[in-house]
Amino acid sequence: MKILIIGSGGREHALAWALARSPEVEKVIAVPGSAGMGRVAECVPVDVADHGAVAELCRTERIDLVVIGPERPLIAGLADDLRAKGIAVFGPGADGARIEGSKVFAKNLFRDAGIPTARFETFDNADSAEVRAREWQGPLVVKADGEAFGKGVLLCDTPDDAVQAVRTVMRSEAFGQAGRRVVLEERLSGTEMSLFALCDGKSVLPFQTAQDYKRIGEGDTGPNTGGMGAVSPVPFVTEEMLKAAVDDILAPTVNALRERGIDYRGLLYAGLMWTADGWKILEYNCRFGDPETQSLLPRLESDLAPLLMASANGDLGGRELCWSDDASACVVLASEGYPGAYEKGRIIRGLRLAEEMGALVFHAGTSRNDQRLFATSGGRVLNVTATGATIAEALEKAYEAADAIEFEGKQMRRDIGRNQYAGKDLKA
Ligand code: AMP
Ligand code: GLY
Repeated sequence: MKILIIGSGGREHALAWALARSPEVEKVIAVPGSAGMGRVAECVPVDVADHGAVAELCRTERIDLVVIGPERPLIAGLADDLRAKGIAVFGPGADGARIEGSKVFAKNLFRDAGIPTARFETFDNADSAEVRAREWQGPLVVKADGEAFGKGVLLCDTPDDAVQAVRTVMRSEAFGQAGRRVVLEERLSGTEMSLFALCDGKSVLPFQTAQDYKRIGEGDTGPNTGGMGAVSPVPFVTEEMLKAAVDDILAPTVNALRERGIDYRGLLYAGLMWTADGWKILEYNCRFGDPETQSLLPRLESDLAPLLMASANGDLGGRELCWSDDASACVVLASEGYPGAYEKGRIIRGLRLAEEMGALVFHAGTSRNDQRLFATSGGRVLNVTATGATIAEALEKAYEAADAIEFEGKQMRRDIGRNQYAGKDLKA
């Protein structure tokens, strides 16, 4: 099988690594890929926004399956354009990608299908949204409808905060077109987890659980990032709770999509919260999560390639996933200044040493300089992942390897996963 992966981050590096290990896979091509993916994939600098050029590459390379990593090309309909040319694609079409691309679409779907979610109202008029925000009883979340680079969700403590949030989204147009409509939503409290499932348009095949750490600062403080680390599994989630998440949330979602004529073939990523009333769905993404994928794939014992192909072909039926009993932890090394402005081009040392220590190092933002040395080229630079008998052991190995890697201004959180094993209260 020849596979083409769309994307260039740590998630895509982990996908390329897992697919390249498959005895069924002859070659992995990444578009555009990254310097760090060179060992597992051939990188081809085609513009992902040029769907015709991607299809042409698939034709000349005789690609059997395209795996689309990020949401942007999915929302833009890359999967549709490739399928129209007879190419098998892992990833939903633009209709299914709305589950991530439009909060209003997703919330209406949950309500109509009776899927447990926070109480909400939607508005396309700033005056009415402000009036409602002021009179809302209890803490509120204001969400821009469209894709806002992960920044369109504003958690508010007071009515004044909420009114201000509506102004930011709708009047100052801080997120452009994405803020033309807003969702006002009850602010829930509980413990979050990420649950992925492969979908073939009809059924779901769930992964094991993972948790990511989105804030830049230890103790979950400071601004949101693309993700500073992840662990898998999430110990508080029992088999029974996992089954409830699949039966009450993921499976009804695929059914509801299907009833609307949407044949969702790809990954469904549920951002769930365990509340006093059980699971609630906070959001869906239409693709693998980053960095949860980097912590999940090293635990997956099943061959990923035929699974993604089965999902693309609409026939997952009867398949199962085998997982290692080991836990896994992923620590993100970021550039100085991230998630604000940061310098690029800082030389990275200790990569080989980290691998010799038993870690997997996925590249999120690196390039090679004239001497062929790796240098920083993104906000998130490396994802250092290790497995171990327990989360504590996996974390110890990941941090040891992360400490062996050096570049000027290296940032990392020292508390990834600590809530999972130190007997402290789980993150609320
Ligand atoms: P979203 O993009 O909808 O996932 O929101 C990003 C983050 O905001 C989530 O991971 C939660 O931490 C938080 N969040 C979203 N919706 C709610 C809600 N209704 N109640 C509490 N927190 C929320
Ligand atoms: N881990 C968060 C995301 O992938 O959106």
